[in-house]
Amino acid sequence: MTAPYVQVRNLRRVFDVSKPWLNRVLEGGERQFLKAVDGVSFDIAKGETFALVGESGSGKSTVARMVVGLLPPTSGEVTIAGVSMTDRAAAAERQRLRRRIQMIFQDPYASLNPRWRVDRIIAEPIRAFKLIEGDRAIRDRVGELLTLVGLHPDDGRKYPHEFSGGQRQRVAIARALASNAEFIVCDEPTSALDVSVQAQILNLMRDLQDKFGLTYLFISHNLAIVRHMATRIGVMYLGRIVEISGGRELFAAPKHPYTRMLLDAVPDIGMTGRQRIPVAGEIPNPINPPPGCTFHPRCPYANERCRREIPPLEEGAACHAVHERRIDMPAAA
Ligand SMILES: Nc1ncnc2c1ncn2[C@@H]1O[C@H](COP(=O)(O)OP(=O)(O)OP(=O)(O)O)[C@@H](O)[C@H]1O
Ligand code: SF4
Ligand SMILES: [Mg+2]
Repeated sequence: MTAPYVQVRNLRRVFDVSKPWLNRVLEGGERQFLKAVDGVSFDIAKGETFALVGESGSGKSTVARMVVGLLPPTSGEVTIAGVSMTDRAAAAERQRLRRRIQMIFQDPYASLNPRWRVDRIIAEPIRAFKLIEGDRAIRDRVGELLTLVGLHPDDGRKYPHEFSGGQRQRVAIARALASNAEFIVCDEPTSALDVSVQAQILNLMRDLQDKFGLTYLFISHNLAIVRHMATRIGVMYLGRIVEISGGRELFAAPKHPYTRMLLDAVPDIGMTGRQRIPVAGEIPNPINPPPGCTFHPRCPYANERCRREIPPLEEGAACHAVHERRIDMPAAA
């Protein structure tokens, strides 16, 4: 069996969020650490879309930044196409891989140089990686890329501010494709867009995936969005994956109480005979998370063991009630 295209193993990232040293001396107070990502593991097969879903602050973007090598992990490993993203010794190999990994952000305006025309923005990776020689050939390729993402070759003469939000995201996608990327990490790529525009961009991303065999890590706080995108889904809560399963399976037979809560908040998703239990409450302070299962203050199934013991991620869910069979399991559709 060949290794998965992306392998993430026991990834952790701790941020030092202490007050400055002098303030601690004068005002008192300990050093404080925030576990933004706490032991996250997953695989992504080539051509697959793996989605990470969770509320704000659950650690999704921190995982994304570590996967593409923008942020060093505190510990853990990331391997992409057989190349370690985390081992210092693999720096040269990583450099060769760089072109093949691209990232798309929520706000394309922030990632596109506002003073450059769009054709220059899209041509930049082609020139930087010397993928095509000659101005004429590069111009033709940029026109082709603009057409691929549903824009007109003449749009290359415009500046980013002359586009709508959805069109700007198309430009960002064209730029990602310009380097012949094969793995694209999308961090909330449609969250800033109107619903109808969101659907167009998601459709475009799926078409491009089919055409070029792209692999996606797709991040969203919205389960409804990932439903039609993801082959597999990992649900994150306070830095951990609490449930991981096939996209269809997650919607048909959610296991973890937190996944159920997220699904219950999506109005137009059909239920499988399961009663909706709206779970109230806020995400706890990540600097001082609750002991045991960090979801216990919000969980209708919490008991003494939950308040004491961290549940391992087994049978696709990190939940004592699931492992103990004391939670109703809707049959998979
Ligand atoms: N550079 C940093 N320094 C300190 N804390 C950080 C830093 N980056 C992220 N955090 C904290 O780590 C946690 C996870 O943040 P992250 O941005 O990964 O969450 P997220 O799931 O992407 O949230 P959102 O949906 O709001 O984008 C949060 O509590 C955040 O405040
Ligand atoms: S381990 Fe306990 S508190 Fe945590 S989700 Fe499961 S039942 Fe709820
Ligand atoms: Mg984020």
